Amino acid sequence: SAAPVLTIDGPSGSGKGTISRLVARELGWHYLDSGALYRAIGVAAGWGDIDLADPSSLVRCAFDTDITFREEGDELLVLINGTDATAELRTETAGAAASAIAAIPEVRSALKDRQRAFRQPPGLVADGRDMGTVIFPDAAHKVFLTASAEERAERRYKQLKDKGVPVTLAGLLREILARDARDANRAVAPLKAAHDAVCIDTTGIGIDEVVRRVLATVQGKA
Ligand code: C5P
Repeated sequence: SAAPVLTIDGPSGSGKGTISRLVARELGWHYLDSGALYRAIGVAAGWGDIDLADPSSLVRCAFDTDITFREEGDELLVLINGTDATAELRTETAGAAASAIAAIPEVRSALKDRQRAFRQPPGLVADGRDMGTVIFPDAAHKVFLTASAEERAERRYKQLKDKGVPVTLAGLLREILARDARDANRAVAPLKAAHDAVCIDTTGIGIDEVVRRVLATVQGKA
């Protein structure tokens, strides 16, 4: 009776965001960018001068903050309490805040129902770290995307260089390895593939081919 769900989990830089949105469009399903929720709470906490080490205030912030996604052409806009925060959400500061608050169990629980509410007909593509393990353990279709740390660093390097942000490849690789370790080793909802997920290593594979393989996991089982 519940709408079908395809979960796409994996580390940052695995191409999850790009792949998930293309697959959602192809299927005509809704799309949940769960990382954007954690980032939005991080940004809202910053706006409200909330200490990232104050769990009860962060939980209140997670319940009280209005977060709205709006498709505008190719862009997915994110509004926090009505204010467009799309650009601020993508900054390293927001990513670091998200990663810190995502380690707090009470914040994760506070966001559970909000994530599950995205499950609407005709279906949902849910992108994150724990979509297949914690949020939608009953999903019919689960994918875990990986890529070597070197390739993820290179993808990120190209993106940032195109934007004119001064970075080094070695510095990015160090950050990616540190973030991986933090996400994989935290006590609550560590990043790991669900036992029933199809793992796809995207190292050296183009976007179209990854989309094709992900769609095949849905259509093969549908
Ligand atoms: O995917 P993205 O880089 O936007 O996620 C930002 C941070 O939010 C991640 O580093 C991770 O710590 C956290 N996150 C999470 N669970 C999710 C999605 C994101 O813990 N489902």
